Amino acid sequence: MTSVREADLTDFPFILPLSRDSFSPYGHYDLSIARWFLTPGTYTFVCEKEANGKVCCGFIMFALMRDEQDGETVLEIMAIAVSKEYRRQGIGSELIKFVKQFNEDSPAGGKPMKIRLSVAETNQVGRSFFEKCGFRVVAEAPWLYPAGQKALRMEF
Ligand SMILES: CC(C)(COP(=O)(O)OP(=O)(O)OC[C@H]1O[C@@H](n2cnc3c(N)ncnc32)[C@H](O)[C@@H]1OP(=O)(O)O)[C@@H](O)C(=O)NCCC(=O)NCCS
Repeated sequence: MTSVREADLTDFPFILPLSRDSFSPYGHYDLSIARWFLTPGTYTFVCEKEANGKVCCGFIMFALMRDEQDGETVLEIMAIAVSKEYRRQGIGSELIKFVKQFNEDSPAGGKPMKIRLSVAETNQVGRSFFEKCGFRVVAEAPWLYPAGQKALRMEF
């Protein structure tokens, strides 16, 4: 059985090494993850699995921000990762489902927000995963990941 709860500082020893392990092909994200975690308006949730007590197996971080183009409030997923030993068991999908529900429950201006994210062009697993979750590539982002990969913008 799995459940999702809001993360707190005691989850750092889980979130930081998982981020390092998951995002190192794209750059050094430790400081960014820590800074985003502490930024008001950014939300971090962890997924726990019941296995002789609760074990953290994944996290998602997102923020509500203003779209540069049309000024509307959008929900931006900044990071999602699942521990290697728990991948391909539906944990990532559960975290995305949670965010979609959060969006339904916290509408900006009375309607759910656009949900968007960036994924490295080379991250085939991430792209397949987000596509399976209903996201579509809408553009190439006008920036590169620190390690040089192109970034694709995806929206739901
Ligand atoms: C991307 C990630 C979060 C997916 O988490 P997960 O818990 O393994 O995903 P799920 O089990 O919910 O998978 C849902 C669907 O995504 C697709 N998918 C997931 N992993 C895949 C893989 N390795 N290869 C191909 N498709 C994959 C499949 O369609 C899968 O459905 P299926 O298992 O019924 O075929 C996980 O692989 C991860 O942490 N990757 C490293 C971090 C990362 O790249 N994050 C995204 C950029 S921020």
